[in-house]
Amino acid sequence: MNKVLQITDTHLFASDEGELRGTRTSETLEWVLEHVRHEHPDTRCILATGDLVQQETAEAYERFVHYFGRFDIPVLCLPGNHDDPALMRQVLSRPPFHLETRFALGAWDLIQLDSHIPGSPAGEVGQAQLEELDGLLQAQPERPTLVAVHHQPVPVGTPWLDGVGLRDGDALLACLERHPQVKTLIWGHVHQPSEQRHGHIQLLGTPSTCAQFLPGSEDFAIDPEAPPAYRVLWLGEDGRFENELVQLHDAVSHS
Ligand SMILES: [Fe+2]
Repeated sequence: MNKVLQITDTHLFASDEGELRGTRTSETLEWVLEHVRHEHPDTRCILATGDLVQQETAEAYERFVHYFGRFDIPVLCLPGNHDDPALMRQVLSRPPFHLETRFALGAWDLIQLDSHIPGSPAGEVGQAQLEELDGLLQAQPERPTLVAVHHQPVPVGTPWLDGVGLRDGDALLACLERHPQVKTLIWGHVHQPSEQRHGHIQLLGTPSTCAQFLPGSEDFAIDPEAPPAYRVLWLGEDGRFENELVQLHDAVSHS
């Protein structure tokens, strides 16, 4: 089984002192990466599913390079609503980072989509990308596939957040359901865990490495009890898929 980690919504600043609603995002990311180094040294690949930075500056992306550039495994990156896709491409077009749509990992294809809409917290994949995705999936029907995107394609049950999800989530799912080799669709953005199914596809939303949102809240609210988190994904060469959410509960009680 190939072990892959989803690490999402790191929300880094140009300075390590930067705080997002009371959480120093560089510090919680350090905790997560320390946990990863200790518990998962056999990781084959990292998926960073958007909101890499909170400040859309080259300096903030350089902090991302500081933390993730030390890995000698591929780090796949896609943009979130807080990212600047052009700036991201400029700073992260170097190893170990990969911004391309399709990445082959053993028997699997990993496909990353760009749902960034300039100036909006919501997301959209768009017709052109959906057609590209359909073409990639048609071309490789035998290869088990993971698809990653920043925004949630289905409601997660937190009303204010579900108002800023993926606008064309239905169209994305309609495309994926036509392709039996698609095993899972993963996202960030929601800063809370979400596990659902859509036909043969496992849908997974993963909490952030920093502050989390309060599940079920009508209006914007932080969950002060929810710890930094990431997700472990196991991709079997035979197409088997398993996952486990890792929450750093000790990090909260020690802070
Ligand atoms: Fe985020």
